[in-house]
Amino acid sequence: MKILGCESSCDETGLAIFDTKAGLLGHVLHSQVDEHALYGGVVPELASRDHIKRLVPLLNSLLEQTNLTTADLDGVAYTQGPGLAGALLTGAQFSRSLAFGLGIPALGVHHMEGHLLAPMLEDSAPEFPFVCLLVSGGHTLLVDVTGVGGYQVLGESIDDAAGEAFDKTAKMLGLPYPGGPHLAAIAKNGNPKAVPLPRPMLDRPGMDFSFSGLKTAAIVQHRQWEAQYLGDEAARAAWLSDLAASFEEAVVDTLLKKCVRAMEHTGYQRLVISGGVSANQVLRERVSSLCAKHDWQAFYPALAFCTDNGAMIAVAGAHRIKAGQHDDLVDGSLGVRPRWPLHELSKVGKVFENAG
Ligand code: KG4
Ligand code: ZN
Repeated sequence: MKILGCESSCDETGLAIFDTKAGLLGHVLHSQVDEHALYGGVVPELASRDHIKRLVPLLNSLLEQTNLTTADLDGVAYTQGPGLAGALLTGAQFSRSLAFGLGIPALGVHHMEGHLLAPMLEDSAPEFPFVCLLVSGGHTLLVDVTGVGGYQVLGESIDDAAGEAFDKTAKMLGLPYPGGPHLAAIAKNGNPKAVPLPRPMLDRPGMDFSFSGLKTAAIVQHRQWEAQYLGDEAARAAWLSDLAASFEEAVVDTLLKKCVRAMEHTGYQRLVISGGVSANQVLRERVSSLCAKHDWQAFYPALAFCTDNGAMIAVAGAHRIKAGQHDDLVDGSLGVRPRWPLHELSKVGKVFENAG
């Protein structure tokens, strides 16, 4: 079964074809980063317009890349939510119209389920059950995963998501949009112990997160330093690197502590890290050594599938379409859910072996 996946929830247009026997056949992506960088953040109206421009040309290049035609497709999965309503609408209408025209099923997929199942695209995919730390720009969730759709949220951020905290702190340091990867890049030259920053909520039980106090503490430290700045550019670059490294370390420390609690709570042996922030090298290294120490297995998506992409939507949709799920294409619904709690998803179990 060949499933086309379509992602358009924010500022990336991603398409991919996943085969339930052969695995990922191909994927294409257009990032709008350059367009939104001018404004320091995503402009929803521009995002929607750009998705519309990209979808058909991207589909054509994906079909060319995979040597397939639309007649080879058995279903279309698209991101139904959560995300920007207008951006979601473009992918939803494109996918549903395509499926309607081809007479094949279409299915709206939860964006975070896509992130959560992205490690399934790898050769060494995790078996169920596992704990998943989902760290993206919009969400920070610790999830007990017992199967496709079997998600119990153990903890979540009560304010900023981890990626959001990276982005806001980076913006305040004067780094370009999107801030997370830029902050991580300058942190490489810094000393993570240089600037004292809090580890929020570690003194309290539970698995929830809070990053807004940490972000504010970094801003306060930066303002104090700037107030005494004497114009030495090299000293400024060194300070920014130290602050970035200390901030990154504080986020990673906090995430790891809660992962340990989730692993001990569930008794599972497998820890999956996914979402945009899972591209962070310090986080990956620290998770790997944590898991080695406890004799747990660590899993991550490939870097290309940490941030938004069509492949994760294709693989999540493939599990569900194969199990018989599909949208009603003539019910007049818009096919989008900008707000959509993860726990509302139905469990389908694992219906095919990972192709790997
Ligand atoms: O999953 P994603 O592409 O979008 C959402 O679903 O939100 O995640 C994007 C987030 C952004 O906040 C971005 O700054 C962050 O992931 N990010 C990183 C890194 N790469 C992406 N944060 C820290 N270090 C990175 N290397
Ligand atoms: Zn995402």
